[in-house]
This record gives sequence, C-alpha cells and structure tokens, in this order.
Amino acid sequence: MPVLTDIGLLATCRTAEEQGDLGAIPDAALAWEDGQVSWVGPESDLPKRWRGEDARSAGGRLVVPGLVDCHTHLAFGGWRADEFVRRARGESYAEIARTGGGILSTVRATREASGEALARRADRFLEGMAALGVTTVEAKSGYGLDLAEEIKLLEVYRSLAETSPLRIVPTLLAAHTLPPEYAGDRDGYVWLVCEEIIPAAAAEGLARFCDVFLEEGAFSAAEARRILEAGLERGLRPKLHADQLSDGGGAALAADLGAASADHLERVSPAGVRALAASDTVAVTLPLAALYLDGPAAPARRLLREGASVAVATDFNPGSAPSYHLPLAMTLACIRGGMSPAEALVGATRVAARACGVEDVAGSLEPGKAADFAVIDAPDVDTWLYHHRANACVLTVAGGEVVWEAPGGREEDEA
Ligand code: NIG
Ligand code: FE
Repeated sequence: MPVLTDIGLLATCRTAEEQGDLGAIPDAALAWEDGQVSWVGPESDLPKRWRGEDARSAGGRLVVPGLVDCHTHLAFGGWRADEFVRRARGESYAEIARTGGGILSTVRATREASGEALARRADRFLEGMAALGVTTVEAKSGYGLDLAEEIKLLEVYRSLAETSPLRIVPTLLAAHTLPPEYAGDRDGYVWLVCEEIIPAAAAEGLARFCDVFLEEGAFSAAEARRILEAGLERGLRPKLHADQLSDGGGAALAADLGAASADHLERVSPAGVRALAASDTVAVTLPLAALYLDGPAAPARRLLREGASVAVATDFNPGSAPSYHLPLAMTLACIRGGMSPAEALVGATRVAARACGVEDVAGSLEPGKAADFAVIDAPDVDTWLYHHRANACVLTVAGGEVVWEAPGGREEDEA
C-alpha cells in the first residue's frame, strides 16, 4: 500500500520559521516507495501514477510524522514501584538515591540480567511505543557503569536496531552516577569513562552520542565537560542531563560544547535559557519526569519565546518516568510547559529528530524522508492532545511497512 488517501489533515512538520507551524495540508494524500516518501500534497493534485488499487484510506483522520522519542533509558532490569510509593509518602528522589535506591538499584538488577533478556524486554517496550505512533527511539545505556556492562547495554541496542522495525539511536551514558566500586574514587571512575568506556564504545561504533547526568550526587560541571570532551574526541556528540533537580549550569555547558541537546531543564537559569537560545543545542523537555517527581516543569514557553527549539520526550526509565507514553508527555508539555499542541507535535517530530541526529531521514513528511507516519483518530492536533486517550493511534507505518494497526480500525467519535 504505497499510497494513503482521504487524509483529513496531514501535518507534514516540515521546516518553518515558527515551531508552531505544522505545514498542514487538508484533504491530503501521501505516497511512498522503497520506504521513502515520494509525494505529499492535496489529494486533488495526486499524480496519475499514484491513483489506483494500492491506496489505503485514512478515513478522514489526522496523519502525523512518526513520533521521535529523543530521550529514553530503554533497556534496564527490574522496576522501582517501591520508590513510587516512598515518594508518594513524602521522600524525595534525591533522598532515595542517597540511601542506595534510585539509579543504583536499577544498576544491580541490570547487571544481573542477560543481554538477551534485556533485549526481549526492551523489544516489548518498543512494540508498545510503536502502537502510540513512535517510529524512532533514542536509547541510553547508564545502568551498567563498568566497561563490560555498559557495552552489554549498547550491544542490546545494536541487536534491537537490527531486528526492530523502529529506528534506534544509541547513546552512551556511562556517567549516569558513580558506581559502588568507585565510591570514594570519583577521579578513578571519570578516568575509566574517558579512557576505556568511551574509546571502546566508539571503536565498535556502538554509540552516536555521549551523555552525562550533571547533578549534585551525580557528576559536576567540570567532570561533565571532561567526559563530553573525551567523547567528542572519539566522534561521539554530546548530550547532557542538565538542571533537573538543581541549576548546575548545564544548559550553558551544553551550548558551549555544541551539544545536540540539553535535557530536563526544570531548574534552568535565565542565563541558561539565553545560552540555549543563542545556540543550535535543542532544549528537551521531559514532562513525565517532572510529573512523577511532582516537581516544576521546564520553562518551555520561555525557551521558545527566547528563540530556542524545544523537543518533547518521555525519559522512559524505571525511576523518574516509568511510562513511554509520548502523546501524554506532549499533552503535559502543553498544560505545564505552555506549549501549543502544534509546538508539542513539532517538538516530538522534527525538533526531536534534530536532538538525536536523524533530521536528514526522520521527523517530517516530505519527499526523500523515511515513510514513517501515524494515523491518529482525531480531526486535528489540538483535539488529539486535548482529548487524552489511552491510545488514539490507529495505524503506524515505519519505513513504509505497517508496524501497528488498531484491531478493527477503531472509531471512537463518529459525530
Ligand atoms: O533522566 N536524571 C537522571 N536519569 C534519569 C533517571 C534514571 C533513574 O531514575 O533510573 C532521568 O530522570
Ligand atoms: Fe534521562
């Protein structure tokens, strides 16, 4: 089925001056060949060669580019429901981490799991994401915290990239927190990351990005700079977990290093906002983490007003964001971040693609890009993100192939 017709509204999300410009085409059609978009436009203009039996109808619904989740911690062992309960009773994320819970609890469970078991589990998460319209997923290591275990996680992502119909973008996050073996020897661990883990991951082509958790209790700005510069020397582009629980100057550091993205930003300073706005570094808002930690949202509106590009992602992980529901994150980016639904959609497609380096192939629907798209059972983007449903996506196509189809072609609202 290389043609989709009867599209009520096609949000192309192609490049525009304003992030809120969807490049929308009403009453549209979309054609593709060999996994790539070959034509988009009003259906009345559809060239003859595309008119024929192989067409499939979108039933007058909304069609959007395949969503890009540009920040996840996809492969991990265990869950941490106990911490969810502890936080509900008043303990903070940082307190739980200080007492051996948090990231280190997941490190223990992840080290115990085999690569095969982690891959099977992550693959089921990917299937769940695909059902929501997601076709590209950035995936971080960071629950191994030694050479063999970090490589194990990156190899899980390599095998998923080969077997999953979704596009996987791997990121090395060896500097997620200090592993127990190095308690009292911070320099020793930073040395290991710079001199052994980064070179090994880069030599095997196992990661595209290098990320650091810059935070009190994790890594300092000086350590983050050293690690990200070591990554750059090996061809890994920087990303940064910045200004989440405290303002650590992460936004400015990310901008200074030419990072692809600065993520979280709940506590970014006005100077940090200005630094991002003056750079090409994408600001990534992660509203599910802010929701689960019951903390402030990143100032998405202010970032946009100052001229930054703002992506929306889930931060899917077993602690601060145990949900991969990207459309819910987009709705929250509107409610708590002041984004318009159109800005949130572009933030989860074209801008997110930039944040994970796949803007040449994904994030918008235009000739030459991958035929990655989702059919959404809503008349427009505002209605989709306002009327939150468990799943409004009825069809997901990645690289021209159907990867999800709602049973019975769901129709909620005939009126
Ligand atoms: O992005 N902030 C640090 N890392 C993750 C949390 C990981 C975890 O709690 O396991 C985050 O929120
Ligand atoms: Fe994260």
